[in-house]
Amino acid sequence: MEQAEIIALTHQTAPALVSDGSQLTQDFYQHLFTHNPALKHTFNMVNQVNGVQAGALLDAILLFVTKFDQLDTLGPQARMISAKHVSLDIQPGDYALVGASLLATIQAKLGDAATPAVMKAWELAYTRIAQVLSGLEEIAYQGHRTQPGGWNAFKPFTVTRVVAEAHNINSYILTPQDGQPLPTYLPGQFTSVAVQIPGQVYRQIRQYSLSDAPGRAYYRITVKRHEALADAPAGLVSTYLHEHVQAGDTLLVHAPSGEFYLDAHTDAPLVLLAGGVGITPLMAMLEHLAAVGSNREIILLQATHNPESHAFRQRLRILAKRYPRLRTFALYQNVPVGAGDSDGDDLDSDMGWGTGQLTDDHLTDLLADLSPAADFYCCGPLGFMRHVNGLLKARGFENRNFEVFGPSQSID
Ligand SMILES: Cc1cc2nc3c(=O)[nH]c(=O)nc-3n(C[C@H](O)[C@H](O)[C@H](O)COP(=O)(O)OP(=O)(O)OC[C@H]3O[C@@H](n4cnc5c(N)ncnc54)[C@H](O)[C@@H]3O)c2cc1C
Ligand code: HEM
Repeated sequence: MEQAEIIALTHQTAPALVSDGSQLTQDFYQHLFTHNPALKHTFNMVNQVNGVQAGALLDAILLFVTKFDQLDTLGPQARMISAKHVSLDIQPGDYALVGASLLATIQAKLGDAATPAVMKAWELAYTRIAQVLSGLEEIAYQGHRTQPGGWNAFKPFTVTRVVAEAHNINSYILTPQDGQPLPTYLPGQFTSVAVQIPGQVYRQIRQYSLSDAPGRAYYRITVKRHEALADAPAGLVSTYLHEHVQAGDTLLVHAPSGEFYLDAHTDAPLVLLAGGVGITPLMAMLEHLAAVGSNREIILLQATHNPESHAFRQRLRILAKRYPRLRTFALYQNVPVGAGDSDGDDLDSDMGWGTGQLTDDHLTDLLADLSPAADFYCCGPLGFMRHVNGLLKARGFENRNFEVFGPSQSID
């Protein structure tokens, strides 16, 4: 079948599928998990309940399949998806399983419109996308395998230390049990851990940013505990790590991946904006620059609830003293305005700066005289990042990078 015919047939039938997206998503996953129950060990079944991730995956499949002839424009998104897939150890054979469920769901939904030619067009378009993604993933797996000390899938690490960084935020220092050297990573990238929690039927995989500089003899992850709320149960893995995992325990760890990392090919001023535990990938960037003796101008702002939830506070003080071009600021959102003065001295003599939500006025103070070529890296809750993105965009800063700690969603 010619490419033009594939495009025509998929485009012709896509609106009927997209019009009923959430039902299609449900039918697709029901088919997938009924025929491949073992995949429940790979998918985050909590995300299935809250729906965000489930929709994202199918939307992307439909988007990619209908744009399979414009892959160049989808490159960054494809790399981001692949990085997530790699952290979950998705293999080429898995694409056939997803493809079979996708085609069965499409066929059922289209009914009489699902002619053999239409179904062939969807199959060919899906196969093309699957080849592109699994090709990117194979390159990453090969890279992991061939680095000194590299590995594929999940490898046992010992938790050598657990460090309380702030209220409900712990770091876990991880060293490989096979004694091999640790492959390096780019500051900002994440790893994933796979845990079998007692009482849970399925293995759980979660991503965690590496929070220290590459090149150490260990990996460090820093995890915020998701406590139960009135309308949500406690997070499975973060609670398990906080309540049960101690020094000496074993964790299964994947090799690092991720598309959010420091651009090492520039000396432009660097602005790191963290909301809560979103400090973790930014901490890796900062530690890396300190370790290599970089001379970049760096501004770091951490918005946290209060001084108790302010992770890495002592370490940042040390770095700021050692590194004259680093300026650090903290914004305590749940401390009423006026509880400390706007220089924050009452709150925290070295680092406090303001209270309340981040505003444009804060940015005026923070970014005064900053070059428009500055690089921004931001990580935190979605609302925080959307707010920051809007403020920075309005000020004409182009180099904005964001990491979402969950299913990818637009920050525009
Ligand atoms: C690239 C990346 C990097 C990350 N880096 C870090 C990091 O450095 N540090 C860090 O702490 N986290 C990080 N995360 C987040 C981390 O992967 C986990 O998502 C987080 O630890 C929560 O996992 P959990 O198993 O505890 O919660 P889950 O059990 O997965 O639950 C997720 C959330 O949903 C809520 N929830 C559960 N069930 C329901 C329901 N039925 N209705 C409504 N809400 C519900 C829970 O309360 C919880 O807040 C990162 C994520 C990504 C994608
Ligand atoms: C053309 C094929 C595919 C496309 C376009 C696609 C797209 C996506 C997208 C957009 C995400 C969300 C990324 C993020 O949130 O950062 C995602 C996540 C995910 N994908 Fe894929 N995917 C495809 C194939 C597969 C296959 C074959 C598998 C393996 C069975 C798979 C398993 C997953 C899992 C487990 C997640 C994380 C979601 C969760 O745990 O809930 N995907 N994919």
